[in-house]
Amino acid sequence: MTKVAHTVLIPRSQIADRVSELGRQLAKDLRADLEAMGESEPHEVVIIPVLVGSILFVADLVRHVDLNMSMRVVTVSSYPGATTESKGAALKGALPPDLAGRHVVIMDDILDTGNTLAMLKRLVLEQNPASVRICVMLRKEIPREGEADLTPEYVGFDIPDVFVVGYGLDYDGLYRNLPDIVILEDPESV
Ligand code: XMP
Repeated sequence: MTKVAHTVLIPRSQIADRVSELGRQLAKDLRADLEAMGESEPHEVVIIPVLVGSILFVADLVRHVDLNMSMRVVTVSSYPGATTESKGAALKGALPPDLAGRHVVIMDDILDTGNTLAMLKRLVLEQNPASVRICVMLRKEIPREGEADLTPEYVGFDIPDVFVVGYGLDYDGLYRNLPDIVILEDPESV
């Protein structure tokens, strides 16, 4: 693999601890909702991973959620190619059509401007789900305004406004397999 200048921001052990905490909290909250509504159907909980960046996060987290669930992926492109600038969010393909009355959890790797998750949440709400939760691994500490001003129910870590890769996050398709979350120090030199 090409060597790239980086600094570890969140080491793998800290990621693992926090992901298990988040998973257990999510399970507890979903269970409370299901019990309150007297629901026992096996398909009430739907996890929507946002591809591609959330795959490692979702794979690790759902193993701490001891509930029946189905998973429906969506693909959103917001950083096409070799860039670290947000280009706005675009849903590729359709949203799963059968979310009415279900408990939906949208999971993404990182909340940056919030455009991606605001768009997805709006589309999910149009289907009248029983609940919608947003769960992100990282949230960048930047000022947010207007539609994108959304507060996720679950946040792994708040991070400064730096470009990070690893643990699912990429630069130009690379570095998703790094086990730690690292700051890419000079992306243009890659
Ligand atoms: P918005 O701005 O819509 O962006 O909240 C969310 C999406 O942008 C990508 N993103 C990043 N990807 N390192 C990455 O590898 C970053 O620091 C970063 N910041 C935003 C990511 O795809 C996320 O889903």
